[in-house]
Amino acid sequence: MIRGLQLDTVVDESAQIHTTIPVLPQLPALNDALRDAAATEVSHYQADPGTPEDFNLSWQLVGVSDQVVGVLLRTVRTRSDVQRREVMVSWFDRSAKRILAADELFSPQGWAALSTQLSRDLCVSRQRGSVAPPIQQVATEGHLAVAFAGDGGLVVMEENQNRRTTSTLAVIDAENARGWLSAAGQHARVAAVAPQALVVPKTAESAPPTPSRSAKPLRSAKPSPTTVPENKRSAQRSAKLKTDCHRSKCVALTFDDGPGEDTNRLLTILGKAHAPATFFMMGQHVDAYPQEAKRAAAEGFEIGNHSYTHPDLTRRTTGEVDHELTQTAAAITKATGHRPVLFRPPYGAHDARIDRAAARNGLSVVLWDVDPLDWKYRDPTTVRRSVMAGVRAGSIVLMHDIRPTTVDAVPKLIKQLRRDGYILVTVGELLGSVTPGSVHARAR
Ligand code: NI
Repeated sequence: MIRGLQLDTVVDESAQIHTTIPVLPQLPALNDALRDAAATEVSHYQADPGTPEDFNLSWQLVGVSDQVVGVLLRTVRTRSDVQRREVMVSWFDRSAKRILAADELFSPQGWAALSTQLSRDLCVSRQRGSVAPPIQQVATEGHLAVAFAGDGGLVVMEENQNRRTTSTLAVIDAENARGWLSAAGQHARVAAVAPQALVVPKTAESAPPTPSRSAKPLRSAKPSPTTVPENKRSAQRSAKLKTDCHRSKCVALTFDDGPGEDTNRLLTILGKAHAPATFFMMGQHVDAYPQEAKRAAAEGFEIGNHSYTHPDLTRRTTGEVDHELTQTAAAITKATGHRPVLFRPPYGAHDARIDRAAARNGLSVVLWDVDPLDWKYRDPTTVRRSVMAGVRAGSIVLMHDIRPTTVDAVPKLIKQLRRDGYILVTVGELLGSVTPGSVHARAR
């Protein structure tokens, strides 16, 4: 758990580009470097020849200590049906406030030993006839990603490699690795094997230990999560008892890609208006913002699965699809105590194989019939007008709670929908009983 963590998510829904990087507390130089690295990857992808199909960048903390912080960025890019996978690992020296080059993690002898091993492996792979990159060159130029196994062994991967296969170049056992590392490398190894919690040092500005880590305080005069849920729950209950969506003009508002920095603000707006809604949450965001997920569930909002890293699942292996679904279900269950039964595939991309994966994981597929393109039009009035132009009885509206302008649109949108006779419900209420694997874009 990282207190003070924020996520920085960049999305282009039409080009299917989704990147999420961490904004780590009090590590601005590392954050800037990660943001630059992600932006560079996206611009390379955009400049690549061929048909753009899917770009996904996600992150993982691979080590934390007082000396160093290690962050792994993983990209999967698909163009003209060709997929390339890359990893980058940044080991950040906290006292020097800079990222260490790969060779700085090794002693001179260790670096020489690694180079020898990599060029020997290169000869072997050449003999086997596989297309290998110039590893010796890669090693001397320092474009290596260095991480550690749980036992302290070294895992050396190639950065920015252009092959479809795994990028692991060498795995060196803990015994050997110890002798190869520099003092900085030893710090990285300890940070990886026995990571410390990344906690903001106690200062006047630092957050108290228990409440939400949201940087923005709730605007509500009564932020206590125990008072709002009662109102919300009764609103939900009465909706369940009274609303018959076969007779009434029901509409389900849905919010994707969160939780994030604006989720608490949205929950307060919806709570005040007694407006039910459904959140399709990403697993990596739930892990970063568990309090927001917990609050949403506690206040009676419906929570669905929106994958862990937001890839186009139709372009991933079945094993990866299952992993995306189960990892997210686990994150949501851990944060909220409830296992999701609804699933929205990223970009709405699904086929029979994805629907079967949903069924296997106890999930119904929920699409939408109203899309105000709020990720693109960052203007509350445009978003509200676009929803009102497309909505009809039984509609499912797609929005994103990671967009502040979308959250700004919600109060007036709720008022206008109600003025036009719509009753707000969750997706579950709108659809009634659903079977795992079934696909829904609106109420029948
Ligand atoms: Ni999405």
